[in-house]
Amino acid sequence: MDATTVRSADPSLALAPGHDAVAAQQPDWSGHPDLPFCRAELRRSAALVDPGQLTDLTAKLARVAAGEAHVFQAGDCAESLHECQPAHVRAKLDTLEQLADLMIIRTGTEVLQVGRIGGQFGKPRSNDTETHEGRELPVFRGHLVNGEEPTAQARRPDPHRLLLAHRSAAAVTAEVERRRAGLGTGPWTSHEALVLDYEAPLVRTDERTGAAFLGSTHLPWIGERTRQENGAHVRMLSGVANPVGCKIGPGASPAGVVRLCRLLDPERRAGRLVLIARMGHDRVADRLPDLVRAVAASGHRPVWLLDPMHGNTVRTRRGLKTRHLTDITAEVNAARRVLEERQQHPGGLHLEVAADEVTECVGGPVAERDLTVRNTTLCDPRLSPEQAALLLEAW
Ligand code: PEP
Ligand code: CO
Repeated sequence: MDATTVRSADPSLALAPGHDAVAAQQPDWSGHPDLPFCRAELRRSAALVDPGQLTDLTAKLARVAAGEAHVFQAGDCAESLHECQPAHVRAKLDTLEQLADLMIIRTGTEVLQVGRIGGQFGKPRSNDTETHEGRELPVFRGHLVNGEEPTAQARRPDPHRLLLAHRSAAAVTAEVERRRAGLGTGPWTSHEALVLDYEAPLVRTDERTGAAFLGSTHLPWIGERTRQENGAHVRMLSGVANPVGCKIGPGASPAGVVRLCRLLDPERRAGRLVLIARMGHDRVADRLPDLVRAVAASGHRPVWLLDPMHGNTVRTRRGLKTRHLTDITAEVNAARRVLEERQQHPGGLHLEVAADEVTECVGGPVAERDLTVRNTTLCDPRLSPEQAALLLEAW
């Protein structure tokens, strides 16, 4: 496969040997003897979403872009392969639905429910290793790649997890679809399209149109660490029919964001592009206005979502990762004002929320001293449902 072929069209080739795009944040398993088998198995396995659904979701997102509806996107930071049973999924979907109902009451509009669910198994990390009790270990990269236990054995990347994850994602997605069939409405699935050995084999062709689509989820997004313009992630998602999201952090430049819009949505299809701003409460008023102005001036009309989680992570004096509800609330309200002052629609929220009353973020009923009581996240601190409801009331 030469680089010219890769550049042409087929997004599943984003990680083909000889590709010329940088692929950041990939697991260190390229020498594993079973990787080719696992990729081939994935290529043979079923897509989890149907291309017709993607057309429906794009049409719904177009209504959000036009200011007529909102999005509530939420779920785990990192989904657990051990929490994919129907009971787990139902609890997560109940939480999503209850919070989306609150948003309907607050906004008086239709609200699209989008879960960080059914494939949110891969995590980008700032460092490759961490020190645990004096020993240096590879970091946990999500259940798609390795285990969270702090042992060398668990942290070794294992490509067989690609197949486990696909099987679990299929079960989760089936439960999501059961609810949609029952209610006539319901959530959509989304995750960060990060691990290309998982995503690329799940790129499929829509038999009716000949168009490529990503079969792993309804709404894939590109993370803050993998949105390089010449990167494999941008290339892969630029070539699929799904609506696509892209995180935008405080280091983004106005011209860079406009170029990303052009790469990901060259035809400016209504409902195709979702920009997810995650600036941090102390930087949003400084950074977001120029980005919003530049995107509006470019003629692109993305859905703007606000992620007030990822720019507000801090450590307690004891070294525990947390987030403060006051910072989270401050960021969404500041970001909403930035958008409204520029006549752009604040399209909704992107949150990390657990299905049960965890104590991972500080605020509402949780004080800093309570953070160890029920802290079960595999990665970043999530809001409890009660904390998320408090945020929605302040929004
Ligand atoms: C995430 O959504 O869990 C994440 C890692 O976000 P970001 O890419 O914005 O840092
Ligand atoms: Co996170």
